[in-house]
Amino acid sequence: MKKPVIAIDGYSSTGKSSISKVIADKLGIIHLDTGALYRGITWFAIQNFMNEDGYVNLQELFSSLDQIELEFRNNDNELILYLNHIDISKQIRTTEVSDNVSIVAKQKEVRDFLLQSQRTLAEKGGIIMDGRDIGTVVLPNADYKFFLTASIDERTNRRYFELAGMGIQADRDQVKQNLINRDKIDSEREIAPLKQAEDAIVIDNTELTKEETIDLILSYIQNF
Ligand code: DC
Repeated sequence: MKKPVIAIDGYSSTGKSSISKVIADKLGIIHLDTGALYRGITWFAIQNFMNEDGYVNLQELFSSLDQIELEFRNNDNELILYLNHIDISKQIRTTEVSDNVSIVAKQKEVRDFLLQSQRTLAEKGGIIMDGRDIGTVVLPNADYKFFLTASIDERTNRRYFELAGMGIQADRDQVKQNLINRDKIDSEREIAPLKQAEDAIVIDNTELTKEETIDLILSYIQNF
């Protein structure tokens, strides 16, 4: 039986990735957190092309994209990105990367660079991908599309505790401001903005636990 292709889009810190991972395990499919790709490119840019004024030099990044090798290794249904043979899972979660990622992600050169790898991973089916433009641009023919949203205060709390769980002591107001800024840049950018696909099922999970959100999504996915 063909395994489903599932697109999960939505705002930052609505739980897209952790929810997608559980659904992948339950359905026996693989999961790709596409935000990790944009974070990976941002980490690479910060390492190599950070100006003294604290901004990434985008032109230098664009001309070096062909030096980036992306590889995905399956670790327990989770596709882990290796960038130039390095596992950068931890490095991409820092606030420095979070503060710069939306500017990098809005660039056409960067989005074009990442698009085909994402589509290729979905060719055989059996994948759940989460991001901002999966249902609209990357996988417009996905079998199922969901769009997650939640209040800004609830999302701030979730992100704050997620960082604390990783041993990162963040300032709550700064976390909130970063989410607001990213939502704004992600939604207003010209190319592949964050928006719900017309055929996506919208889930506001402000009042839902992670498990309740998972159960709700699974209730839509039948016959697989
Ligand atoms: O899901 P995340 O917060 O880790 O994503 C980090 C950033 O990457 C987010 O602010 C916008 C960008 N992104 C994107 O533009 N398109 C995607 N499909 C996934 C993420």
